[in-house]
Amino acid sequence: MVPIVIRTPSLLLFLTLLLAGCQKPMVLEPVPDWAYPTNPPPPPGPPPTLTPGPFQIANSKLSFTRAEVTNLFAAPDWRPEDHPPMPTVVSHGRKPEVRACGYCHLPTGNGRPENSRLAGLPVEYFVAQMNAFRDGSRKSHVTGRAPTTNMTNTAKAAQDDEILAAARYFAALPATSFTRVVEQSTIPKAKIAAWLFRFDRTGAQEPLGQRIIEGPDDFEQFEIRDPATTYTAYVPEGSIALGKRLAETWGNDKTLECSSCHGPGYRGKDNVPNIAGRSPTAIVRQLYDFRSNSRRGGKSSEMDKVVRHMSNGDMLALAAYIASLTP
Ligand code: HEC
Ligand code: HEC
Repeated sequence: MVPIVIRTPSLLLFLTLLLAGCQKPMVLEPVPDWAYPTNPPPPPGPPPTLTPGPFQIANSKLSFTRAEVTNLFAAPDWRPEDHPPMPTVVSHGRKPEVRACGYCHLPTGNGRPENSRLAGLPVEYFVAQMNAFRDGSRKSHVTGRAPTTNMTNTAKAAQDDEILAAARYFAALPATSFTRVVEQSTIPKAKIAAWLFRFDRTGAQEPLGQRIIEGPDDFEQFEIRDPATTYTAYVPEGSIALGKRLAETWGNDKTLECSSCHGPGYRGKDNVPNIAGRSPTAIVRQLYDFRSNSRRGGKSSEMDKVVRHMSNGDMLALAAYIASLTP
């Protein structure tokens, strides 16, 4: 056995610098499962949580049946007065593979925690993301989650003119937030349903730990796709303040502060997307997907230096803070 001896002072210096740089984790931490809730295999048929309907909501004269609110080729449009007329690709898609964008992202474009808010996204960014889904460079780190699989298949089948029509429609809509971010260490018991969490309303509780648990305040309202559905995201105590500090000082390098690219209030700048008030679990998924090289394409390389040393805890805190802001 030959003992390992450090012979030169320069090597010693090199190792010291390397260790100093290692204060932030260099290796990718295990995937934060709570950000990628994955349904158990569903029983066949419509969502077991819904009756056949018909359903009604406050502030709408319309009614829809269960068959209508689960039809991926006709977005339930509860309040047509809230948005301009939808292009066909947004309202109906095109069978067999182009699902209606408005079904998942809603006619208002505000999306839901299991997908993404499209309202107000710059057209150029939007088209680049569609191309990244199409050529397979933008993927989710966790494969096999139906919302992302459906999105990818939809993008692959969509034509350029359909993508442009959808991009222009969503770009003109105002971004809003429906998630309330709440710091709390004990939360209502939550179980996975419909690609996010469903809170138990019987009073049963569980510890939050180092997770973000996000779900609709009224699960049926969520299932029937009422655009006024609100969500609560429970985050660990202190995470909003920690996230604010990280967002403002990330890497102690002015060029990495989130606002240097995402603009004042993180509301977007040039072709960089608005991230303020987005679903916090969707934010964590994107950060982890950048960090694990699963999300490529577009201008993803600009996020590389931002996420390089990001721990899962950093992602959690940043998401808690950014999601708590007004878009
Ligand atoms: C089955 C649900 C579903 C349908 C239908 C759907 N999407 Fe998506 N979309 C998603 C999900 C889920 C994501 C997030 C994927 C991820 O990052 O894992 C997404 C993300 C996106 C993004 C990226 C947004 C961002 O912030 O980077 C764009 C753009 C987009 N969708 C456009 C469309 C368009 C255009 C259509 C219609 C042609 C459409 N989507 C139809 C579920 C859907
Ligand atoms: C050097 C510029 C730059 C900095 C600094 C930066 N970002 Fe980004 N960010 C981008 C770009 C560009 C994109 C779009 C990437 C693409 O085209 O795929 C992006 C995308 C994102 C997305 C995905 C949004 C979506 O719609 O899917 C999130 C979340 C995000 N950034 C969070 C952050 C946070 C948090 C910080 C600060 C810690 C930060 N960014 C700092 C340039 C930057």
